[in-house]
Amino acid sequence: MVETIKLANGVEMPQLGFGVFQMDDLDECRRAVSQAIQVGYRLFDTAATYGNEAAVGQAIRESGIPRDQFFITSKMWISDYQGAAPEKAIDHSLSALGLDYIDLYLIHMPYGDVFNAWRAMEKAYQAGKLRAIGISNFSPDQTTNLMLFNQVKPQVNQLEVNPWNQQRENVTFNQSQGIQPEAWAPFAEGKDQIFTNQTLQTIAQAHQKTTGQVILRWLMQRKIVTIPKSVHRKRMQENFDIFDFSLSYDEMQMIGQLDRHKSQFFDPHDPAAMKAIVQGGRPGANQ
Ligand SMILES: NC(=O)c1ccc[n+]([C@@H]2O[C@H](COP(=O)([O-])OP(=O)(O)OC[C@H]3O[C@@H](n4cnc5c(N)ncnc54)[C@H](OP(=O)(O)O)[C@@H]3O)[C@@H](O)[C@H]2O)c1
Repeated sequence: MVETIKLANGVEMPQLGFGVFQMDDLDECRRAVSQAIQVGYRLFDTAATYGNEAAVGQAIRESGIPRDQFFITSKMWISDYQGAAPEKAIDHSLSALGLDYIDLYLIHMPYGDVFNAWRAMEKAYQAGKLRAIGISNFSPDQTTNLMLFNQVKPQVNQLEVNPWNQQRENVTFNQSQGIQPEAWAPFAEGKDQIFTNQTLQTIAQAHQKTTGQVILRWLMQRKIVTIPKSVHRKRMQENFDIFDFSLSYDEMQMIGQLDRHKSQFFDPHDPAAMKAIVQGGRPGANQ
């Protein structure tokens, strides 16, 4: 049974969900989301820039499960932050998903006219189109700057968090502010043999679980929401089956020691990465 976390505005968010980044084939995306719904996932994480909001919405409608059982996240891309574009981007996400409201809407990257984007999101939040609003890839100073000059506090900050890049400082900062941290790429997309790491394997064997399940459990115990992606039903099931065991303090410490304090994809605060992303890259894609 997936536990929920109460956001600062009282909205309940499942602690475990399903991500659909790099599901460019819309039939595959719809099929994967349908299977994930059958497995039991109710939180789905998409974004305007993934190009698959419509496929996610279709799978949700086809499930026949009431809308209020789901928690749907989407994100605004940098090219929509300026002028009147944010309002249109929110309406576009709503119509692509085929929904009357989105549970959580995020500023995808902390570059460009984020203040303009945020103020449009505040209005849509107050109008009931968005149940919660948040940010992604923001550092503590960027988050503080946004909070100091706006009315609505971000509810969530979605960050890369995995055993290679544990983001302790940023996670702790968000938690201290009542902002829920959410981990993208919990498996570092499998980079650097994360699934066969010796430490993770030893812990997995002790619990008769897989390394993937140990990673997700480690995030649950750090009170971080996460959204692993898979197009394979067996793995969706495996990634969902993490609520019948706990890691000990020592096991949590052992995983803590795997931290390399470095992204496997991009450092959102590195000027070169920033430039590449603004000029058309999709964060994390094929790196
Ligand atoms: N805010 C941002 O900037 C940002 C950036 C990146 C991602 N995200 C979000 O975070 C979500 C998750 O991150 P991600 O998709 O980049 O990476 P991820 O969840 O860390 O890893 C996905 C990869 O792991 C494989 N996998 C999944 N479960 C597995 C298991 N149990 N055993 C072995 N392999 C397994 C998948 O393969 P198969 O599919 O072949 O099973 C896929 O190649 C995304 O889908 C997206 O929603 C957000």
